[in-house]
Amino acid sequence: MDRHLSLSQAARLIGVKRKDVQKKIQENKLKVMEGTVVLSDLKRAFPDALYEDNTMLEKMEKNMRDAVHKMAQSEREGSHIDALSRRLLKLNKELADERNRASQMEELLDSMKQKFLSIKLSTDEDNPFNEIKDWFNESLISLDDEINISPLQQMEEQIKQFMQPHIRLLPSRHNYISDKSETLLESALRSGLAVDYGCNNGKCGKCKAKLISGQVEKTAHQDYIFSSSEKSQGYILTCSNTAISDITLETEEAVSADDIPLQTLSAKIKNSQRLGDHIIKLALKLPRSQRLRFMAGQHLELNLNNHTREDGSTINAEYSIASCPCEPHNLEFHIPVQENEPFSEIILNHLKKDEPVTLTGPSGSFVLDEDSPNSLIFVAWDTGFAPVRSLIEHAISLDLAENIHLYWITTKVENHYLDNLCRSWNDALDNFSYTPVLSEPKTDIVATTLIQHLHDEHSHLLNFDLYIAAPGHLNQHLKPLLISHGIKSQNLYFESTFHGDEIFD
Ligand code: FES
Repeated sequence: MDRHLSLSQAARLIGVKRKDVQKKIQENKLKVMEGTVVLSDLKRAFPDALYEDNTMLEKMEKNMRDAVHKMAQSEREGSHIDALSRRLLKLNKELADERNRASQMEELLDSMKQKFLSIKLSTDEDNPFNEIKDWFNESLISLDDEINISPLQQMEEQIKQFMQPHIRLLPSRHNYISDKSETLLESALRSGLAVDYGCNNGKCGKCKAKLISGQVEKTAHQDYIFSSSEKSQGYILTCSNTAISDITLETEEAVSADDIPLQTLSAKIKNSQRLGDHIIKLALKLPRSQRLRFMAGQHLELNLNNHTREDGSTINAEYSIASCPCEPHNLEFHIPVQENEPFSEIILNHLKKDEPVTLTGPSGSFVLDEDSPNSLIFVAWDTGFAPVRSLIEHAISLDLAENIHLYWITTKVENHYLDNLCRSWNDALDNFSYTPVLSEPKTDIVATTLIQHLHDEHSHLLNFDLYIAAPGHLNQHLKPLLISHGIKSQNLYFESTFHGDEIFD
């Protein structure tokens, strides 16, 4: 059984950077198929990493082989699920034993350390016992560093990932990992995929998908009746089945904003938090039974049901969703604090936890072209960071791009109101770069500053898609400049329907 891995999974597995895996591909030393590499090819391309340094991988492969062997054996007996459970139980026991041994060794080392400390040493520098004590202390420090890495935890995580069914969707070629405790639909939504669905309880048939390979198990009753043709083609409902092996499904996914239906949902205020002088982070939650279907980068109309204007109309406004579609119950918005603007005034001074908010939408077409093979550059002006954050989290969660670079332009340092989040992406992901940019709020100065950065940091822009969330007049100014610097017009995506113009002179 050979495992297909995304480039990031492959890099993590053997402890190298993603760009090292990409280098092997460019050198034709590693084959890539539809964005994935095969484990056995990876082994051949990185023999040292696998055989000398990564005994964990060998262990894991052995565990996989054992598990697969056991599964095959049990399938003959007609009870592969039980066999898998037994195997997982055994693996867990092995991990527990390893932990036990590690903790006994730690105790032994600790008592040795105490023993050394209690021995009175001679002040004679030439005493060899002094040298042994120093060596022992240094060894303990480096051992502590290694223990912090927690190889056992890594092994546990890797085994878990490998033992969970991998789902492949066609024709999109999206991959996700399913949890046995979830339906196929729930896992897909948690992974941020825009798959089609309706009732979520086996009635409407909107979530149906064709099972191309692998095995599923029904987890809930379904009323929907398949036609005899659907039955013979192997259709299933993703809302009432879970995967019990790696599977491939053929199913519809939203590829553009037009594929997402207009929805009206009732949410509640979860909390609001000031992020610097001019921004409030507003968090809303939906009941567990409801999910908002949206694509990263879209916006929503928020109606504050308990607050009205003098003419009796409900106070409402439209804002970009700042969270990832993989969190369909929890939505985040970045609300600029504006004088004489009733929406932000109420959020700031009068809103209470659990107050109702009616959501209408989503709208907007500032969404990722997931079929594009290009790397991604995001440019956010001020609170244009909200839709850009949603796009970045979506791109990261689906491992959509080889490289991602974010430029966040503001007028003051403190206006990078989620600077730490961007720096944490920069530190944690080897294919992510973050450049905070300061500029005067003048259209030509912002444009010149951005072009200079792109020119200095990217030798050419041919293989990039640029997503820019900035005021309309800045976008209009930027477009011809970017095209004259080598980017194709079809690779430019603009968002300008958000609050941000007022900062400009
Ligand atoms: S979502 Fe309605 S049947 Fe699955």
